Amino acid sequence: MTDKGTSDTGANSMWGGRFAAGPDAIMEAINASIGFDQRLAAQDIRGSRAHAAMLAVTGIISDTDAQAIGEGLLTVLSEIEGGAFKFRTDLEDIHMNVEARLKEIIGEPAGRLHTARSRNDQVALDFRLWVRDQTDAVIAGLDLLIRAFLAQAEKGADWVMPGFTHLQTAQPVTWGHHMMAYVEMLGRDMGRFQDARIRMNESPLGAAALAGTSFPIDREMTAQELGFDRPMANSLDAVADRDFALEFLSAASICAMHLSRFAEELVIWSSAQFRFARLSDRFSTGSSIMPQKRNPDAAELLRAKLGRILGATVALFTIMKGLPLTYSKDMQEDKEQVFDAADNLILSLAAMEGMVRDLTANVPVLEAAAASGFSTATDLADWLVRELGLPFRDAHHVTGTLVAMAEKKGVDLPELTLAEMQSVHPGIRDDVFAVLGVHNSVRSRQSYGGTAPDQVRSQIARWKEKLA
Ligand code: ARG
Repeated sequence: MTDKGTSDTGANSMWGGRFAAGPDAIMEAINASIGFDQRLAAQDIRGSRAHAAMLAVTGIISDTDAQAIGEGLLTVLSEIEGGAFKFRTDLEDIHMNVEARLKEIIGEPAGRLHTARSRNDQVALDFRLWVRDQTDAVIAGLDLLIRAFLAQAEKGADWVMPGFTHLQTAQPVTWGHHMMAYVEMLGRDMGRFQDARIRMNESPLGAAALAGTSFPIDREMTAQELGFDRPMANSLDAVADRDFALEFLSAASICAMHLSRFAEELVIWSSAQFRFARLSDRFSTGSSIMPQKRNPDAAELLRAKLGRILGATVALFTIMKGLPLTYSKDMQEDKEQVFDAADNLILSLAAMEGMVRDLTANVPVLEAAAASGFSTATDLADWLVRELGLPFRDAHHVTGTLVAMAEKKGVDLPELTLAEMQSVHPGIRDDVFAVLGVHNSVRSRQSYGGTAPDQVRSQIARWKEKLA
């Protein structure tokens, strides 16, 4: 059995010294993480190389051994990347798989790599490096998606569409304004990931099992080599902490929630009943039975992705809840959740970017919809306040009466005659009709953050500068 990394008794060669027998097959199946943590291979090898180099600089191991370890690890990495590496379940996880293979390649010096280190700080390091890489990928994906929304906003800064509350027509808004609402949301998402990255960027390496080590290690050196701002200040916290993963998942959940909201709007907008916008062929699918169909599958999937991302978030919180310090094997359950959430968020950002880039607005339909449903009733009420000095509550009542009149006649507000309007309030003049048009309506909403095209353009300019 020695060829499988086990001793003569069948016990694990990495930790089997005090064991008389190897594990039950079921024990091996539940205990092993190699099926999924092989995704940490590059991070594991990067961390080990930094550790070995530091062990040599501090005189804990010889330069010759460190050299052999460093080169051997690169060989292991190339075997893994080339697909030649045989991952072994009996070696539990990525850390022991890499070390065992290193031993096969370089022999005795491999055994010195684990000096002043434990799998506890090793896995904390590997996972943190992985989450940091994904955080950078998410930030890059958000940047591209924000740019896609900005391009839409620029194109349609003065296209009018209905703004909704309760999914009922409320007031006309501009297409650009609607797109810029998502730029704001995604901008906050980006801020959350950037902020989380700052906190996660401390190195747990050197905490060893939990208490630190008696060897004269240099934690600043490994932290710097691995791109961290500093070593974590408490060894117990360093091995027990998974905040970085929880923050990543929390930010991912909020972001996926934003994506699901726009996804839902795309589903509604692209329906035959709304026809507000058209998704490109690249992001639609057909039906195998109904030839006329163009289904918004990508949007529907994006609407759903929060389900699993939030699920992962809840799972990891639940795994971590109540765990006594420091490491417990429960924490091995952290990885699959984060892997799945990160994969799906990054894919979602790319899919949404493609959909937004390709999206074509149906401008005439948007404008007609904006003008229907008495959407400029508030403009009329505001005119009564501004021009006739009515208190807003009275203006609201007069307008309500006019809306009821129009509804009864089966027309929209601008189609009422002046005489009809004057029958409700004699002071109304014919310049009121100017404010009932949807373009005048949106143009008038010049308050900071309002829907007026000028406001939208200045927000676009601010964002472009911010991203540049
Ligand atoms: N595979 C383990 C994990 O993912 C690595 C750490 C093991 N540490 C230990 N003390 N058994 O958490």
